Amino acid sequence: MLPELSSLLSRFDPITGDIAGAKIVQRRLGDLRGCFADAAAFEATLARKNPLLYSVAAIEPGSGAGDLHYGVGRLMPGRIGNEYFLTKGHLHSWREAAEIYIGLTGEGMMLLEDEVSGDSRMVPLTANQVVYVPGRTAHRTVNTGTVPLTYIGIYPARAGHDYGAIAEKNFRCVIVEVNGAPALVERRNVVS
Ligand SMILES: [Fe+2]
Repeated sequence: MLPELSSLLSRFDPITGDIAGAKIVQRRLGDLRGCFADAAAFEATLARKNPLLYSVAAIEPGSGAGDLHYGVGRLMPGRIGNEYFLTKGHLHSWREAAEIYIGLTGEGMMLLEDEVSGDSRMVPLTANQVVYVPGRTAHRTVNTGTVPLTYIGIYPARAGHDYGAIAEKNFRCVIVEVNGAPALVERRNVVS
């Protein structure tokens, strides 16, 4: 027997990131202490304002072994120093779990980092682009544009979010503006 239509279908707004009936998580600048390379610039900005950085509206139709969850993320534009606004980033608790990101509006990048080798990649995330995030890959979204970046993420229901491993050692690389364009730079080479 099929579930109710409300479990089979949802309608999202690609501009606002809203989905009716979704579970919403919001993160403000103050929630991202330790994420940005330039800690002094972070504290100076936070002393003046604590804006909403991003929200994720998640739909969780089921929690069985084969189920999927999905959500729409909306990340605001801006920078701390020359580092673009970003999401906390995470590994999946179930490390093998991959994820699909689909760009909706705005211009951004996904920062991917292999958990074992530390190999890092900057992958464009804009409208009509699909990014495949393999398992065992830390992933973070970055808004490199001037308007909100929105995207859909689809992942196994049992993937889970492990923020702790990233909070402890952070991503090896950062995405910063260099001569007006996004560049992938090693964190240790960014002045803080
Ligand atoms: Fe994920």
